[in-house]
Amino acid sequence: MSPDVLIAPSILAADFARLGAEVAAVDRAGADWIHLDVMDGHYVPNITFGPGLVRAIRGSSKKLFDCHLMIDPADPFIAAFAEAGADLITVHAEATTHLDRSLQLIKSLGKQAGVALNPATPAAAIEHVLDRLDLVLVMTVNPGFGGQAFIPAMLEKIRQVKALTAGRDIRIEVDGGINAATAAEVTRAGADVLVAGSAIFGKPDYAAAIASLRPTAIA
Ligand code: DX5
Ligand code: ZN
Repeated sequence: MSPDVLIAPSILAADFARLGAEVAAVDRAGADWIHLDVMDGHYVPNITFGPGLVRAIRGSSKKLFDCHLMIDPADPFIAAFAEAGADLITVHAEATTHLDRSLQLIKSLGKQAGVALNPATPAAAIEHVLDRLDLVLVMTVNPGFGGQAFIPAMLEKIRQVKALTAGRDIRIEVDGGINAATAAEVTRAGADVLVAGSAIFGKPDYAAAIASLRPTAIA
């Protein structure tokens, strides 16, 4: 049985020289999903990795690979990430001209589909694509870098997304500045997948770090 609130460590904060071992370590430490931040140096001011790396680390964990594409355009690369082993593919509403088409493409490849919203993007951006969504990713920092401060105004957006998705099987994920304190606030607002980079990989004990983000630890 999967817990109500899922923890998804972002490998952006992991030791890139030993990524496979880092993925295996957070898997053993209790991660529910593995969050993979793909950046293109164009849509966001940073570059990370592509489908080749996703394929290379796929064997290190059987957990869901949660692929967060911060790339523009996204459509030409979606099939490559699906083939590389992504289970869930999230595109930014702001980075694809035809969001509905991008979501259809992800679903046609048999993968779960997500849409990410930057801090300044209104919750209403998801209103007409709800039927195609498995997940809404509310960015709680501006995308591009780990270790940034949580933006408190996003709590209200999480509540709005919660209302818009009521009665549907759609997860609400948050990403950026998540630690034990902000985890408590976002889960109260309605988030049920917590991405964390520095709050997990920046700590010596991954299992303790993951446990500290769960609502049971902070109730
Ligand atoms: C930021 C990425 C995040 C990042 C979060 O653009 O999408 O996943 O790794 O890092 P922390 O948890 O350190 O804020
Ligand atoms: Zn991310």
